[in-house]
Amino acid sequence: MGSRYHTFDIHLTYIVWRALETDRIYQHSEHVHLALLRRRRAVIPDIPNGCSGMACARRFKEGTLVGVLETRMAIQAAYNEWSSTYDSDSNATRDLDRVVTEWGLGTSRFASVIEIGCGTGKNTRLLSQIGTRVLALDFSDSMLAHAQRKLRDIPNVVFSLADITTGWPCATRSVHLVTCNLVLEHNQDMSPVFTEAARVLVGGGWLFICELHPCRQYQGTVANYQRGTRRIQVAAFVHHISDFLEVAQNSGFTLTSLREWWHENDDGKAPRLVSFLFERGA
Ligand SMILES: C[S@@+](CC[C@H](N)C(=O)[O-])C[C@H]1O[C@@H](n2cnc3c(N)ncnc32)[C@H](O)[C@@H]1O
Repeated sequence: MGSRYHTFDIHLTYIVWRALETDRIYQHSEHVHLALLRRRRAVIPDIPNGCSGMACARRFKEGTLVGVLETRMAIQAAYNEWSSTYDSDSNATRDLDRVVTEWGLGTSRFASVIEIGCGTGKNTRLLSQIGTRVLALDFSDSMLAHAQRKLRDIPNVVFSLADITTGWPCATRSVHLVTCNLVLEHNQDMSPVFTEAARVLVGGGWLFICELHPCRQYQGTVANYQRGTRRIQVAAFVHHISDFLEVAQNSGFTLTSLREWWHENDDGKAPRLVSFLFERGA
């Protein structure tokens, strides 16, 4: 939450979200993207017209500050919109990720856990059972609100609005497990996340990651949801297996396990998910 731009993003997203709700023109995320951009053009004049989430992602690849902001805001806005049906939509990737997380972490115990990109809290309940204290971070206030409502009876979880590409709100060397599920496809540069994970983890601490498998990304799959007759795609970036391994190694992590995962309906198809367990050096 330290960054000026982050505060700006959250504030603006909230304003547009409320405006769209009030005007009842809230049909699909393209509206949200365009409304965000229209509003922001008044503040930052050089934003081109007709920018969608995926166009934002392309501009982000070109590395401009405007592109970075557009992309982040488009992703936030999309998740704010998706939040109302994220849990009830039919979504094999979401369901498989839950199974993978249970498989990977269910029998372990940790004093302190950080979940980055917790969304509606699908995995947070499990983490609250294996962790003494859990801090769950997300930059979508609507996703967080759903998570908070669902887990209001659980005392050892704190939810916090935060952009995981900036400094995380916790002390250096204070955490035993960091988890990250279905989040990194929305962040082109993974290094700030690994850098923060390395900062907050104790020596020997675990970083558990489960993401859409790059094979699926090569085939064009991105996180998506339905609104009316439209299928909305959330801006996403391809991360090859070697990208994960390289950024992890550069941040002082050792790979403990890498697994590929298929849903029961995925017979004969490319793997749907890839999971990594990294250990932080001493
Ligand atoms: C597909 S959802 C996954 C949610 C949850 N981890 C799960 O497995 O169900 C992706 C989540 O990542 C969050 N997210 C993406 N980029 C983020 C960022 N830079 N900072 C914080 N949250 C982010 C989104 O708001 C969204 O809630």
